[in-house]
Amino acid sequence: MSSPADDATRRAGAILTIDLGAIAANWRGLRDAGRASGRPVDCAAVLKADAYGTGLAIVGPRLAAEGCRQFFVAHIDEGIELRRVLPEHPIYVLNGLLAGTEGDFVEHDLTPVLNHLGQLNAWRAAAQRFNRPLDAVIHLDTGMNRLGFGPEDAQALVNERGRLRGLRLALFMSHLVASEEPANPINGEQLSRFRSFVKAMPGAPASLANSSGIFLGPDYHFDLMRPGAALYGINPLPGQANPMLPPSRCKLASSRSVALTLYRPLATVVPGARRGLRASPPSASGMPTVTSVHWSTAASCTSPNSPCP
Ligand SMILES: Cc1ncc(COP(=O)(O)O)c(C=O)c1O
Repeated sequence: MSSPADDATRRAGAILTIDLGAIAANWRGLRDAGRASGRPVDCAAVLKADAYGTGLAIVGPRLAAEGCRQFFVAHIDEGIELRRVLPEHPIYVLNGLLAGTEGDFVEHDLTPVLNHLGQLNAWRAAAQRFNRPLDAVIHLDTGMNRLGFGPEDAQALVNERGRLRGLRLALFMSHLVASEEPANPINGEQLSRFRSFVKAMPGAPASLANSSGIFLGPDYHFDLMRPGAALYGINPLPGQANPMLPPSRCKLASSRSVALTLYRPLATVVPGARRGLRASPPSASGMPTVTSVHWSTAASCTSPNSPCP
């Protein structure tokens, strides 16, 4: 007798196979690119948007087994889902502390990425209420204009460090706007703003580089790198050969195979950007409805140009 899962697979319009070995190899490659300069920089994984559509509750433990120690998600519910399968690892929630969610963060041992003084004050109040120090990440906006402490809030923090009383600083971080354009002067400007802030606020590790930022060189690495897109095969070096392995293959019910490219999920502030998958080229009947997702544990992709079977 076939199992319900077998039946679902038989009826599926398309089957997507995620190669966990490829994602793990991509993480190792990014970690090693950061360490090439000889500094012991750590490498986290960004699992936002359900690990860019590849399944955060499966990808997270695979990367933890590979040696990844810190994880970022966009939304608190993603953090709660990940905590169920990763009981020990730090999990940082990029969207920060939304009003009334303090108890949920504490209950699930999640760390909010604090994006402005209001969130900082609310988290401090929570630390008092729960009568224990709580971990916090401070996100500095050095030019993204999306999330993070702006110049005034950042200065207020530098002027009055006591605003952090009751909190344990896990990390200072900022996000690069255009790291995939190495010649863009905004990279250097953001680096310089972030450096000044970190210098004025010693006492916590720092993190600036996303996927492409890792390839801007050791100045951008600080203590922790935060790749997302490149883990899932998106080229961090546009215009050059893609050093990443493709982690997904989609098989249509008709047995025709299409390559699925992972595209960047929408900004962290937009809820609901869950599955960042797009068929390439689009099939005649349009985007296949991927109703069955499989994960392969074998590292079956051996080179960037040979797609997973
Ligand atoms: C704050 C933050 N850090 C890191 C990343 C990962 O960036 P990338 O996917 O370009 O590696 C993201 C993704 O949007 C992000 O929002």
